[in-house]
Order: sequence, then C-alpha cells, then structure tokens
Amino acid sequence: MYLHGTAKVNGQGHLEIGGCDVADLAQEFGTPLYIVDEALVRQRAREYVESFRASGLKFQVAYASKAFSVMAMCSIAEQEDLSLDVVSDGELYTALKAGFPAQRIHFHGNNKTPDEINMALDANIGCFVVDNFNELHLLNALAADKGKKVNVLLRITPGVEAHTHEYISTGQTDSKFGFDLGNGTAYRAIQEAASQSNLDLLGVHSHIGSQIFEVEGFAMAVDKVAGFAVKVREELNITFRVINLGGGIGIRYVEGDTPLPIAAYVKAITDSIITNFTNASYPLPEIWVEPGRSMVGDAGTTLYTVGTSKDIPGVRKYIAVDGGMTDNPRPALYESKYEAVLANRINEPVSETVSVAGKCCESGDMLIWDLELPKVNSGDLLAVFCTGAYNYAMASNYNRIRRPAVVFVKDGAADLAVKRESLDDIVGNDVIPARLKQTSAAK
Ligand code: LLP
Repeated sequence: MYLHGTAKVNGQGHLEIGGCDVADLAQEFGTPLYIVDEALVRQRAREYVESFRASGLKFQVAYASKAFSVMAMCSIAEQEDLSLDVVSDGELYTALKAGFPAQRIHFHGNNKTPDEINMALDANIGCFVVDNFNELHLLNALAADKGKKVNVLLRITPGVEAHTHEYISTGQTDSKFGFDLGNGTAYRAIQEAASQSNLDLLGVHSHIGSQIFEVEGFAMAVDKVAGFAVKVREELNITFRVINLGGGIGIRYVEGDTPLPIAAYVKAITDSIITNFTNASYPLPEIWVEPGRSMVGDAGTTLYTVGTSKDIPGVRKYIAVDGGMTDNPRPALYESKYEAVLANRINEPVSETVSVAGKCCESGDMLIWDLELPKVNSGDLLAVFCTGAYNYAMASNYNRIRRPAVVFVKDGAADLAVKRESLDDIVGNDVIPARLKQTSAAK
C-alpha cells in the first residue's frame, strides 16, 4: 500500500490524512468527499519554486488551475508565490474572486471569446497566451479599443510527441492548439504579433502533453524552442524575454508509474535553457512553467461509501460506491488506473478481489477493475488515491447526481472548500416555460 503525503494509518486502523481520521470526515461532511492534503500541495509548490530559485534564472511557476480550480486553491497558490494559468472566464472569475493578483494571471485557450478577452483586459491580467491568428487580431483590436498594450506569448506547437494518452498529448503538429513550428506558421505569427501596436510580444509558449514521465520530450521541446528563438533573433531582430514550457509532469497513480522528481525536471529544463541560450550568446530568458497535475494530483483522495454488491460466480464481484464517473470521469475517458483502500479497516488482510462500480446508469461507469481488499461490507469506506487533479475539475451532474464537497485537511483541521451541491442546486438553473405550466384541467 502506497500512501501519499501526510496519509497514514492511525491506531484504529483507519486512514488518516492531514491529521484527520477519514471516518470522522465522512461523518461530518458525508460521502462522496474530495479530501485535499494541503501540506502536500504546499510542499509541491515549494519544490517547484525552490528548484527554480536554485537555477538562478528568472521564473514564474504558474499553477494550471484547470487541474483543480476553486477559490481556496487560488488562495494557496497566491500564498506560495505561484502565478496562475486560466483558460476560461470561469477560471478567471474564480481567481479574481479569491483575490488572486491579476498581474500573475496568464490566460490560455484556443477559442477565447471577445467577452472573455474584454474581461481579462479590464482585470489587467499579466499575459495572454495567444493560440491562433484570429485571436491575435481580435486581442490587438480589443486592447486598442481600451487604449491598452498587453503582454503576449505565442503558443507554438514544437512537433514533439510525448508518450502519453493521445487525448492529452498536444505538442504534435496535428493538434488543435497553437502555431506550428515545422511548417513556418509560428514564424509568420511572430512577424504578425510584432507588427501589432497593442501587443507586447514577450516570447513563446510550448506545452507538449500531460502525465509525462521522461525528461527527453521536455528537453527536445527546449532545443526546438531555443533554435527558433535564435533564428527569430537573427532574422527578425526580435528577442524573446520569456519562454513558457507549459506543464506535463506525470504523477504516481499506481505501482509502476515512475514520475520525474520535480527538482530533476526543473534542473533538466533550466540546464538545457542555460546551455542553449548561452551557446548562442542570447540573453537568458525568464522561464515560466504551468504544472497542474503534479501540483495537486496526489494530494487528492476521494472517499466513498460502499453500497451494494453483485457477485457473479466464476466471473467477478462488483461493489458499488455512492459516486462514480460523475466525480471521476478519468477511468471512463482515458482508461486511467487508480489505487484504493478500505479506509475504515485498512490493516485487515486482503481476502477478495472486487471491481469498483459507480452509481451511474452506464456500464462504463467503473472506477477500478480487480482491486484486492479485505472482505467488503455495505457501509465500508473506500478511499481512492490521487484524485486531486482533473477530478473535481471534470465532475459532472450526469444522472443529476450532486457534485461532492471538497475539504482541505491540515494538522488535524478539516475545512470546507466547496460545499456539497444540494438538490436545489440541481434544479437551480431550470426554468419551466410558462406554456408548459398549464395544468391538464386548464387545457
Ligand atoms: N499548460 C497547458 C497549456 C495545458 O494544456 C495543460 C494541460 C497544462 C499546462 C497542465 O498540464 P499538467 O501539468 O496538469 O499535465 N484532463 C486530462 C488532462 C488534460 C490536460 C490539459 N492541459 C486528464 O485528466 O488527464
């Protein structure tokens, strides 16, 4: 059994996270429940920041809030001196509402709407990461309307394929994101951006994918970006002040996953930047990164209550929990694997193999196949690890199931960060058009 962060087994044989017995958390907050180990999030943030400090380069570590965007998380990011990457008006609003400093917000996305751009311009955010020519011209025009000049990075697609699931790899040429490096589009985009009077071109951005374990892909991307920077400087006399290398470091979901230590990743990319740019007598740029999963992924645990079970002799035994693909769509979407324990009887010997089903009306709603557990009873608590990234963020109300609460735990204290949705929340935006309200008597 692999326990992350502050997780441990307490004297009662219960799982404890952040000094809180999860059985008590289930009592107090109900299940399903997302539990966030605050100390582990802060530890990850510090690993990034300290590793960059050690490189001597100027840097920004922008937490990719898409992984888990809630106001409490923005507060932690602020306290840990992180910047923030947002990709929609919703994520931007969450950050601003949490009082996150706008100057440290970077706005991403391949189809920012005029309203979203105007909102970000009004908030005076720090940087727009421009994805395509439409956006380049739209942003320049909207900034001009407001008499502003805004910082931009251009997102380029370096032509690096990271070894990851195809839905989460983005650096290859055939991608919906960014200006392609290989076919000259990125070069044209630089010329175009430099000619727009309301844009201040800081440099370029590259993100090659997510849940990546090898350093090679990142190093290749740095080489390509550096080569491009040198060419642009020589031929166009434009010097990049910022290189943003995106996010992407993988985490350990299950045994066999071998993530790069954060410090090793940072050292590899900063060494490579220093070598490439120094060799070209190029002023060292600032390095920005955008970690999402590696900041919050292993700090999250989802706690469920086991309900029904179905034993098919000679085939398998299903146990069903009170959540499922609504709070964690990743197994259904990406065939992602997770580890889990029986959180209220964690030390008991393993005695059966079960497959964990969700409660949605869909056969694909399976969380874990073939999990070894002590004999499972209805009412037991199941804790699924590593659900901090892209779980709450991707949760849905399929089957009109309510999204769980989120609690942050630290040093024995458990504080609500997101309330559990109520049944009234479920119908909160519904409207019955007047013409449908006629009773049958009135017809
Ligand atoms: N920067 C950009 C431009 C991105 O597109 C992403 C992730 C990140 C940073 C953060 O990447 P990370 O450090 O988290 O790998 N829903 C999928 C992951 C989608 C990733 C999207 N972009 C999943 O559940 O695995």
